[in-house]
Amino acid sequence: MENGAARTAPAVIVAIDGPSGTGKSSTSKAVAAQLGLSYLDTGAQYRAITWWMVSNGIDIDDASAIAAAAGKPDIVSGTDPTAPSITVDGTDVAGPIRTQEVTSKVSAVSAVPEVRARITELQRSIAAGAENGIVVEGRDIGTTVLPDADLKIFLTASPEARAARRSGELKGVDVHATREALLKRDAADSSRKTSPLAKADDAVEVDTSDLTLQQVIECVVTLVEEKRAGK
Ligand code: DC
Repeated sequence: MENGAARTAPAVIVAIDGPSGTGKSSTSKAVAAQLGLSYLDTGAQYRAITWWMVSNGIDIDDASAIAAAAGKPDIVSGTDPTAPSITVDGTDVAGPIRTQEVTSKVSAVSAVPEVRARITELQRSIAAGAENGIVVEGRDIGTTVLPDADLKIFLTASPEARAARRSGELKGVDVHATREALLKRDAADSSRKTSPLAKADDAVEVDTSDLTLQQVIECVVTLVEEKRAGK
């Protein structure tokens, strides 16, 4: 070892993109925890800024009002995969950002270029500060936020599998209604002009429809380990 430096695994940046219901969050957290990496949920940041807009009476249909307010909330994301956290102006919003109201409005807010510029800058500075490496999950991480990520994964699953998982999480919610809501949000997230949901050309696509969560985690851990080993 040169200069007596400790031999540690090199910091690795992993981008995990894909629509909701593909197991993205559960996989990203578990992979980060297993490999000792930091973790960033970028969807939570878009949800947090949406929550702030709603709480402050900003008209969600008024893109210029959203753009004008985009710089105001102070959003802080914790990066411990075993205890993810998010605050807005010091208030813990981990619960409020998961309400139906925020979920139905987040696509409109996250389509505004000023919102994306603000949140992208935040994401890049968090990734740059993660000394041991980081798993960043979202929709545009491999394409826009961290195009030089060491490893890019794009998770997919059939609409049926995704709706079944989501309605299982949101107990008592009808699978058909969940499927329609997911497809509507996908269409909005994929068709927006600024950094839409998209697979990077160099991303590894993993279809999780017929895999258990444990199998997806093992698959991604193997891909990260191979990358670290220089394969
Ligand atoms: O992953 P999620 O469902 O919590 O994300 C909520 C919304 O945030 C999603 O509908 C689109 C938006 N989003 C985005 O535009 N870009 C990201 N990198 C992450 C999420």
